[in-house]
Amino acid sequence: MRKSTAELLQEAVQAVGDAEAPRFKRSLSALQLVSLGIGGIIGAGIFVLTGHAAAANAGPAVTISFALGAVACAFAGLCYAEMASTVPICGSAYTYAYATLGELIAWIIGWDLILEYAVGAIAVSVGWSGYFVSFVRDFGINLPPQLTSAPLAYDVNTGGWSSTGAIINIPAMAIIAFITTLLVIGIRESARFTSFIVVLKLIVIALFLATTASSVTTANWVTASNPDGLLIPPNAGPGAFGWSGVIRGAAVVFFAYIGFDAVSTTAQEAKTPERDMPIGILGSLVICAALYVAVGFVLTGIVPYDRLNVPDPIAVGIDTVGVRWLGPFIKLGILFGLTSVILIMLLAQPRIFRSMAHDGLLPAVAAKIHPRFQTPYVSTIVSGVVAAILAGLLPIGLVGELVSIGTLFAFMVVSIGTLVLRLCDPDLPRPFRAPAIWLVAPAGAVTSLFLMLGLPLDTWIRLVVWLVIGLAIYAVYGRRHSRLRASGEG
Ligand code: ALA
Repeated sequence: MRKSTAELLQEAVQAVGDAEAPRFKRSLSALQLVSLGIGGIIGAGIFVLTGHAAAANAGPAVTISFALGAVACAFAGLCYAEMASTVPICGSAYTYAYATLGELIAWIIGWDLILEYAVGAIAVSVGWSGYFVSFVRDFGINLPPQLTSAPLAYDVNTGGWSSTGAIINIPAMAIIAFITTLLVIGIRESARFTSFIVVLKLIVIALFLATTASSVTTANWVTASNPDGLLIPPNAGPGAFGWSGVIRGAAVVFFAYIGFDAVSTTAQEAKTPERDMPIGILGSLVICAALYVAVGFVLTGIVPYDRLNVPDPIAVGIDTVGVRWLGPFIKLGILFGLTSVILIMLLAQPRIFRSMAHDGLLPAVAAKIHPRFQTPYVSTIVSGVVAAILAGLLPIGLVGELVSIGTLFAFMVVSIGTLVLRLCDPDLPRPFRAPAIWLVAPAGAVTSLFLMLGLPLDTWIRLVVWLVIGLAIYAVYGRRHSRLRASGEG
């Protein structure tokens, strides 16, 4: 007889809980959850990709792109909050799917989440490298460009490749290697460290806005290339300006919102999950959306958008308005902020591998815990080494789009899954219920799909290839070793 969702949940909680739950205390307040959300959210999206999206896709209308991205996240965020409170395991979309939608969908999501976490860490590390080069340049140290950027450049609009003349991006590799080492020896982000980084990020953005807002020239919003339309430059091909560019820009800067789902992984630790989860998720989203829209407005108001295709657009903005002395401070703050995002992503990835290994979908070695450090060291090292190599070779535009499409796909499945679970198991205890689920869940799925459609065909092909590879691995390995199948439930 097939087990009910409630029984599966109970088993999963016990299995994971045996190892971890005793350590969890219900200690996180709503404010701490908002802070955790901001800690995971603000990163390369706003500090780096804003510039790319403005220069290549949306022009000054990158602010509209930010607003569109926030809407999609809000709907999916409500579904995440419901799932997180219903599946109270230190989880991720993988755990939610496993407990509610079955093993195959869970595998697909778990495999897809590699794009969000490991590839996300790669994208942010490339952003980190850009600011690092810019930071040390302020002190007269010019690092050789051959060793600080990817060998190939990628045109997000045409999908074309060109050589940069560089060999490898060493700073991006180094930061991943450094964080991987920290994670193996067990330095976890303490709440205090997270709060410190969050305050630092907010100060950086506040300083940027305060020192540059008065220099905004509205002429930059209505340039020679778009004399008739405020903010939106005329279309120049699919995804290049016009409304199609605004939508592609939204899909690109969607990256900037990724991370709020980290809040949902702490459902077990929230004091009052039914109240605090939605506050944590939606609160951090609203604050970030407001800041992003403000930064988008100001940045494109002080620098003509076509000059923003640089690794450090915020620094370029500061230089443009002439407050050069502030540059090094802001860059240092950004470097810390990006470091915390990489840390959170590289912390999450091995834990998802561990859950998958626990369910028999990956070899047991992926769940192996270091006897002394008590960390999932094998999967941490494997994720770190692969991420570091790719960080040395790939351009941020390419990886950023891949992260966006992969995460949007997960959002879509979680939104659909929330509705399916309401239908199939209406009586399951749900400490937090998303309001108007008939509207919110379909809207979460549709807005996510809409943003995915804004991404170029090449990125879709990469997603499909990635998922097909995942399905092949499932067929060859996961299906045969599955714990559910072994116990006759599959
Ligand atoms: N939202 C995170 C960032 O922008 C991933 O870096």
